Amino acid sequence: MRLLVTGGAGFIGANFVHQTVAERPDVQVTVLDALTYAGNRRSLDAVADRIEFVHGDVADFALVDRLVAESDAVVHFAAESHNDNSLADPTPFVQTNVMGTFSLLQAVRAHDVRYHHISTDEVYGDLELDDPERFTESTPYNPSSPYSATKASSDLLVRAWARSFGVRATLSNCSNNYGPYQHVEKFIPRQITNLIDGVRPRLYGSGKNVRDWIHVDDHNAAVWTILEKGSLGQTYLIGADGEVDNRTVVGTLLELFGRDADDLDFVTDRPGHDLRYAIDSTRLRTELGWTPQYEDFRSGLEATVRWYRDNESWWRAQKESAEKAYAATESVIG
Ligand code: NAD
Ligand code: DAU
Repeated sequence: MRLLVTGGAGFIGANFVHQTVAERPDVQVTVLDALTYAGNRRSLDAVADRIEFVHGDVADFALVDRLVAESDAVVHFAAESHNDNSLADPTPFVQTNVMGTFSLLQAVRAHDVRYHHISTDEVYGDLELDDPERFTESTPYNPSSPYSATKASSDLLVRAWARSFGVRATLSNCSNNYGPYQHVEKFIPRQITNLIDGVRPRLYGSGKNVRDWIHVDDHNAAVWTILEKGSLGQTYLIGADGEVDNRTVVGTLLELFGRDADDLDFVTDRPGHDLRYAIDSTRLRTELGWTPQYEDFRSGLEATVRWYRDNESWWRAQKESAEKAYAATESVIG
């Protein structure tokens, strides 16, 4: 099978390529990645001689058409992915997330190529802390940020191309991922690398916001399950029952670093900050038989801390610019 993986130099995409090369020697992987600030060629060093790497833009229609024509399937990870950046400048989000997806859809339609679309639970908006309901495949779309609005837009394009043009597509909406190779702008790597540097972790607002954490390998195993067994035109929610509030995540990290439980700063909240995400992944589990392998969040976090300690050369160059961007809007409130 010839598989085109967009965004394969990013966090989830790189882990997907590693998993695929390790477990599926029959799959020929081509990565298409624009190597934006979030992409890192070094994330693919360990598999460099087993894949083809193409440096390019998913919104380059001619390039995408050529690469799709040479593929049997596409998994589309490439995106602008960080909410805070989308608040500072939504432009690349519209361009990559909407136009990039449009470009891929036109190509898979023209060449009748199987397509899997990677999306997020953020398209559903947020839940109250005490809401007994969780997101399901039929929850109405209600995105809050420019990032999630562009992801929602791209999902709707995929659904329309599947229905109107018969594109052989599946979609997945996953909750918050953690694991190796995640950019230091994101919550968990930011706090881990702060702690390595002896800097206090930073919590937005009250720290009560809840995210539904899943290990990146579990997400990627689910993607393969959907690619192989999913019903065409269908959406699957991916989640591992990992709801934890941000204050608790930071508390666990402080403990792992042997620091006091109160050794943290509360900072300016994110405008429009979603309160809680929670995924009901019953369809994926009962219809396709997927189950997560990483069930203990604390030990998953411990392994992630070890990875950042052991791979400082991978993240160090990005730390200063990420913190500089935060410093422009963030101040300590408690
Ligand atoms: P990331 O920011 O770490 O990586 C994105 C990758 O896409 C980078 O390698 C970047 O260079 C590449 N890219 C960006 N614009 C591009 C363009 N125009 N053309 C080609 N490549 C381009 O993101 P991530 O966290 O790995 O997220 C991957 C996908 O998973 C995204 O679609 C995101 O919406 C989705 N997702 C992420 C999470 C999460 O917790 N991180 C959860 C659910 C869904
Ligand atoms: O739910 C899936 C989504 O998860 C993905 O679609 C996004 O691509 C991914 O970035 C992530 O979005 P979040 O906004 O939830 O992730 P982030 O890592 O930015 O923040 C996680 C939580 O931590 C959120 O409540 C904001 C908070 N936060 C974040 C940072 C960077 C802090 O309290 N302090 C911080 O320094």
